[in-house]
Amino acid sequence: MNENVTLLSGTANPDLAERIAGYLNMSLCDVEIGRFSDGEIRVNIHENIRGKDVFIIQPTNPPAENLMELLIMIDACYRASANRITAVIPYYGYARQDRKDQPRVPITAKLVANLIEVAGVNRVLALELHAAQIQGFFDVQVDNLFAAPVLLEYIEGKNFTNLTIVSPDVGGIKMGRAFAKRLDANLAIVDKRRTTADSTELMNIIGEVAGSDIIILDDIISTAGTVTQAAEALKKAGAGKIMVMATHPVFSGPALERLDKSCIEEVVVTNSIPFNGLGKCGKVKVLDVSPLLGEAIKRIHTEESISMLFI
Ligand code: R5P
Repeated sequence: MNENVTLLSGTANPDLAERIAGYLNMSLCDVEIGRFSDGEIRVNIHENIRGKDVFIIQPTNPPAENLMELLIMIDACYRASANRITAVIPYYGYARQDRKDQPRVPITAKLVANLIEVAGVNRVLALELHAAQIQGFFDVQVDNLFAAPVLLEYIEGKNFTNLTIVSPDVGGIKMGRAFAKRLDANLAIVDKRRTTADSTELMNIIGEVAGSDIIILDDIISTAGTVTQAAEALKKAGAGKIMVMATHPVFSGPALERLDKSCIEEVVVTNSIPFNGLGKCGKVKVLDVSPLLGEAIKRIHTEESISMLFI
């Protein structure tokens, strides 16, 4: 990569940032991120970035400090006269609050987009936004990558023979259909009804699953209620081995315990968010998305098409 590019990492996922830098054969910029004694975030960039094409790598999963850090880093780069600032957001927090589906609720995904834009970002590189239309919440360009190439490569190495891809909700049908087509598998859907924001009640299975091995495909695992309930329903319907694939391992609250106790044999996620819970659930396998993000960064800088990364 040429010397006009600067890669900066926040503290949310330094391992992923190091891997991206490794893929691009460059070092991360020397930046100090600390706290003042009252807890406020302090950022100090120790290199000249005037006129540089800057990429800031920071997922915005909780705590909110991660988002705040991203905003402050963008501001620091803007005030240091970077030529272009791209926020590389492997996981876009608050994405599930993307519409006003009840009275008196916010559209926080839009608020977050406003904050990032006002901070001074010129473009955004995201990975598997929960809803593609979040791209339109920004007035700057957004490239929304999919983890599909990384996930598919892993499944293809497994040599399934009788496989059904299951989408645990209607929102995931499009991606499920794409996986099923590519893997020559069947497609089924679990009709999920949400009772409260963090709990779900499952309804019908649409499609044939008896005797089939299953991959439940989702974008996010948070409390793991969705995938563990789907897995139970599928087992009752006569499914064989069950694997789960999801891009973002949010793993909140009871998630790891639920996954550990469930009939799911393997849980495949990516390193969009750091995972340190192998001690609590040994079923989790983490795939590396740094080559995907690194290649996109390279192509954005050199103004080449990134559409080949969507295959
Ligand atoms: C919902 O629309 C998402 O695609 C996921 O299914 C959901 O966010 C997972 O949440 P949880 O793991 O808490 O059920």
